[in-house]
Amino acid sequence: MKIVAVRTHVLRHTLDRQFQSAFSTFTDRWACLVEVECDDGTVGWGECLGPSTANAAVVQAMAPLIIGRDPLEIEPIWLELYNQFRDQGQRGLTITAISGIDIALWDIAGKHFGVPVHVLLGGAFRKRIPAYATGGFRPLGEDRRAALEAETAGYIAEGFSATKIKIGFGVEEDAEVIAAVRAAIGPDAQLMIDANHGYDAIEAVALGNRVADLGIDWFEEPVTPELLDSYCDVKAGQPIPVAAGETWHGRWAFAEAIAKRAVDILQPDVCGCGGFTEMKKIISMAEVAGVRLVPHVWGTAVQIAASLHVHAILPPSPPRHERYQPQLEFDRTHNPYRQAIITKPIEHVEGVVAVPEGPGLGIEINRGMIEKYSV
Ligand code: NI
Ligand code: CA
Repeated sequence: MKIVAVRTHVLRHTLDRQFQSAFSTFTDRWACLVEVECDDGTVGWGECLGPSTANAAVVQAMAPLIIGRDPLEIEPIWLELYNQFRDQGQRGLTITAISGIDIALWDIAGKHFGVPVHVLLGGAFRKRIPAYATGGFRPLGEDRRAALEAETAGYIAEGFSATKIKIGFGVEEDAEVIAAVRAAIGPDAQLMIDANHGYDAIEAVALGNRVADLGIDWFEEPVTPELLDSYCDVKAGQPIPVAAGETWHGRWAFAEAIAKRAVDILQPDVCGCGGFTEMKKIISMAEVAGVRLVPHVWGTAVQIAASLHVHAILPPSPPRHERYQPQLEFDRTHNPYRQAIITKPIEHVEGVVAVPEGPGLGIEINRGMIEKYSV
């Protein structure tokens, strides 16, 4: 089997209702899908996290290096791509581009051997993944507090038992909104807060102490991802477990964060950290260090499927009768192509999502929808 083509698909949908995280304004929903075709007709799909047109350009720059190669040489291809780009690209777009290619190669391998990716990765510890609803952005031109109360209460009514909201807009306002959301979802639902690195350590420590008694499961990206010492300050200065990892790329970035004990919870993204090949290594490193790992997810059904295979193989740490179950991040914000690009949408039932069982990623692409939303 040989690779004969590498194609990228950049998808875009312009939002009527724009929203904000701490530092960005979402005017459109973008995605970069990677399609790898083999000479026997087998096609694999992957996705890259981050700026879609830039990811597509890097994937296209990498394509000549893998055309003609055996797609089952996944580790050698990973290392060769990285080695050719590492001098100017140890992090960032190099790794997000490799991630999309790597996921497509695992999809091909699964289809070739007729098994799901989680079987190739060693087998599933679990096949039903509890999900948490991700949303709670700041809507533009609306009352943030009222909007988030209604939105998060809706998630609980829909069957989710956990939700995550965006903060990083100022300690006073955030503390009030978090209290309002806690009241709206009731005392039993899990609540996580995500600052998208909108604070410095002083603000993050102040906010964490202000809301600690509201039962927050984790405080995500309190400070900018380069500042590992600031992460340590936030961890030491307030009681909520600290989480981060969606902007860290490659095993070396995670090794640094682990060595510093910078976070309580690592959040590698399979479409950003280097694909399944790198995720395996990061999972092992987290296990050895005793750091909890809960993957980050923000993308289309291709990414959601890939993440479900990662969730399936996360080793229970520790193994016990009633195990901690890392939850799937399940984006509920508006994106009309997120599930439409596959023939059988990945949905939740009472907040639980099933791991796909078909060969490879276990999804079938709806090409008409990819064409419809392609730039
Ligand atoms: Ni729309
Ligand atoms: Ca996040």
